[in-house]
Amino acid sequence: MTHVLPLFEQGRHLLSVSQFDRSNLGTIFEVADAVDLIAKRQGVCTVLDGAMLGSLFFEPSTRTRLSFESAFLRLGGEVTTTTGFTFSSMAKGESIADTARVVSGYSDVLVVRHPEAGSVAEFARHSTVPVVNAGDGAGEHPSQALLDVYTLQKELHQRGKTVDRCHIAILGDLKFGRTVHSLIKLMSLYESITFTVFAPTGLELPLDVEQYAQQRGHRLQVAPNVVEAVRGADAIYATRVQRERMTAELAQSAARGDLLNRAILTQASNEDAIIMHPLPRDSRPDSYDLSSDVDELSGLAIFHQTDNGLNIRMAIFLTALGVTVEAVRLTTKQRPWKATLRS
Ligand code: NCD
Repeated sequence: MTHVLPLFEQGRHLLSVSQFDRSNLGTIFEVADAVDLIAKRQGVCTVLDGAMLGSLFFEPSTRTRLSFESAFLRLGGEVTTTTGFTFSSMAKGESIADTARVVSGYSDVLVVRHPEAGSVAEFARHSTVPVVNAGDGAGEHPSQALLDVYTLQKELHQRGKTVDRCHIAILGDLKFGRTVHSLIKLMSLYESITFTVFAPTGLELPLDVEQYAQQRGHRLQVAPNVVEAVRGADAIYATRVQRERMTAELAQSAARGDLLNRAILTQASNEDAIIMHPLPRDSRPDSYDLSSDVDELSGLAIFHQTDNGLNIRMAIFLTALGVTVEAVRLTTKQRPWKATLRS
């Protein structure tokens, strides 16, 4: 994103994590805390009664689409959705500009995922309502970074630590992994972070992201291997090889065993290290991803991230549509039903 985007607030698009400072980031997290009972399905809210979300996903998605849509529905709004190019008129050659103009006429807010970096910003330029970037190619994924930092803050707090001055190891496909780009930039709002990064050859972190952190006074060091990368880290963030964004040769060269597993963690990491991943986790053989043999470890936070995604996405909608926490409180009642399984 070359031009400076305005801070994220009511009536604004959310395209990049650069739209946050410590103040509006803190506010988003306060709103995310305030909607916890609704996210945990202990309260039923109707504050978005009559509002319509347009959900447009031109790339595969499970949790991002479902959590954005669930967040809107849980707040009492309604959702229209289209997935993939095949089922939209983009398959007939319709431009982003025309599509944006049309669907913004049907919706009060739009969530858009698209395979090309910069395409969601283009979409926003032609939309008459706020647009939320749900991932634009290898560009950014701001809502994921928000839920990642929100989760990290909670997990560190339980260990008597803060995001300020923390040490995070970031591993995997750092070139095409947009969640990592947004995460490093958003964490750069904090103080004195140590980033230790490791990527397979050809998938290294883009220089502009590295410099973004360094110019803001953070330490960013490149580790020679995963064992050295995780040593001493408070948190470890692993990512999938983004095979869909690279040549078959490059994908093939990255295909080998696990990126991170229990043996590596036992050998090198802090005992209470927080283990994070944006998911999906590639569970095919030789996918070079986070192994499921870490699933019983107490530091595993990957499903806390997905749960927290609901709170964060509610907070994004409430902010974009100018709804106060007080309005949420006044329109929330206890649910008369239970959704828990009996043991
Ligand atoms: C990520 C994405 O789409 O960038 N997934 C997600 O939204 N949680 C990560 C990925 O696909 O690897």
